[in-house]
Amino acid sequence: MSKGQVIIVGAGVLGLSCAVQLSRSGHSITVIARDLPGDSHIDYASPWAGAHFRPSPAKTPAEQLEQQLMRDTYSELEVLAKEHPESGVKIIPAIEYFDSADAKSFLAKENGYIDWPDFRILKSEEYPAHHDSIRLGVTYRSWVLNSPVYLQWCRKQAEEQGVQFVRENVASMDEAVSVFQEKIQESEKSDIRALINATGRGFNDPDSFPSRGQFIIVSNQCDKTISHHWADGSSTVIIPRPLGGGTVIGGTKEPNNWSEDISDAATETILKRVAGICPELIDRESPAPDNTHGFNIRQVYIARRPMRRGGLRLEMDKTNESIPLIHCYGAGASGFKISWGVARQVELLVAKTELLVNKPLEA
Ligand SMILES: Cc1cc2nc3c(=O)[nH]c(=O)nc-3n(C[C@H](O)[C@H](O)[C@H](O)COP(=O)(O)OP(=O)(O)OC[C@H]3O[C@@H](n4cnc5c(N)ncnc54)[C@H](O)[C@@H]3O)c2cc1C
Ligand SMILES: *[C@@H]1O[C@H](CO)[C@@H](O)[C@H](O)[C@H]1NC(C)=O
Ligand SMILES: *[C@@H]1O[C@H](CO)[C@@H](O)[C@H](O)[C@H]1NC(C)=O
Ligand SMILES: *[C@@H]1O[C@H](CO)[C@@H](O)[C@H](O)[C@H]1NC(C)=O
Repeated sequence: MSKGQVIIVGAGVLGLSCAVQLSRSGHSITVIARDLPGDSHIDYASPWAGAHFRPSPAKTPAEQLEQQLMRDTYSELEVLAKEHPESGVKIIPAIEYFDSADAKSFLAKENGYIDWPDFRILKSEEYPAHHDSIRLGVTYRSWVLNSPVYLQWCRKQAEEQGVQFVRENVASMDEAVSVFQEKIQESEKSDIRALINATGRGFNDPDSFPSRGQFIIVSNQCDKTISHHWADGSSTVIIPRPLGGGTVIGGTKEPNNWSEDISDAATETILKRVAGICPELIDRESPAPDNTHGFNIRQVYIARRPMRRGGLRLEMDKTNESIPLIHCYGAGASGFKISWGVARQVELLVAKTELLVNKPLEA
């Protein structure tokens, strides 16, 4: 028996994870979104992501919750990598280099690193040659995924569990309800158990803003994911994409920059930095064109991370009682890392709506 109808607005990694999780546990789900897996749009963040797992600090209560979400996600993705490699998920070693970090404070538990599988400090002989700036290197076991392949896989999984998808750009949650009533099922509002707002940076929240990222997809192959944190606060990442997706390298972090223009200077910096951090990427590859530092470039692109001042919004909206509204948006640079954890929290929030929905009807 269905546990009730839930409408999800948004088909990024968060909307899709919620759809898979909630349909698995017996809810009837409709996903309404402007962009669906397979689409490409600068404001549809998910297909642009690397994507990989990287630990983060667990000092504040908000960071500790994020740790839990990351752990839930990590264990789910470990299972997918093993049982469904066609989902585009793979477990590989990760390496991180820091130009400013002291090993002692780094090793404190609340720094968020030491508890992850296979964690250890690297010996300096393991650093890349000619890199005098590195003060600390660590390694651990991580997951990477091919985001366009993974999103399609999630959609297929959801459809097999009965989830319906509707392409529509809506201006409000009320409009989402009308779209559902027109296109899927004539129904009373009271038959809808919950609405889920998984619109990324969608609409109307003055705290939401984009962080522009320029990245490059190259054909050169790498068997681990590498991150270098430079002294100036910027980072360079190398993220292999399983199932023939090449390697994502980059990138920039430019909060509130709405430009869609590719910066040639940024491209040059990325190629040079990555060639220095991981010379193996170059050596193994067949000859590359001149002036690309040995890379075979497939695509240079700009994407926008859905940031939010105050961080992820994951809560029941209490301002409107007509249909319970659950927000899960503003995941910033971490949407994949926390996706399954978020989906489980949303399921718990939906479970709390039961009393509201089962209120006896007035005579
Ligand atoms: C270059 C890059 C690299 C990244 N690397 C990583 C990584 O390694 N690891 C990691 O965890 N994260 C990474 N991220 C971050 C991650 O991509 C995002 O946090 C995540 O994709 C957000 O997912 P989402 O579902 O919230 O939003 P989105 O993917 O943006 O999806 C939003 C959905 O809502 C729909 N929508 C919005 N408004 C409306 C509307 N008005 N009506 C109808 N539908 C609407 C959209 O069409 C879309 O379907 C990276 C991001 C970028 C850009
Ligand atoms: C849904 O989320 C978006 C962020 O994508 C936010 O701007 C908007 O206010 C939310 N919608 C409602 C009805 O609260
Ligand atoms: C935004 O990025 C573009 C492209 O790199 C650049 O030309 C522009 O100066 C940037 N704008 C701001 C406000 O930083
Ligand atoms: C609350 O929901 C009703 C009906 O769905 C809608 O008309 C109203 O605008 C909503 N109010 C707010 C504050 O979102």
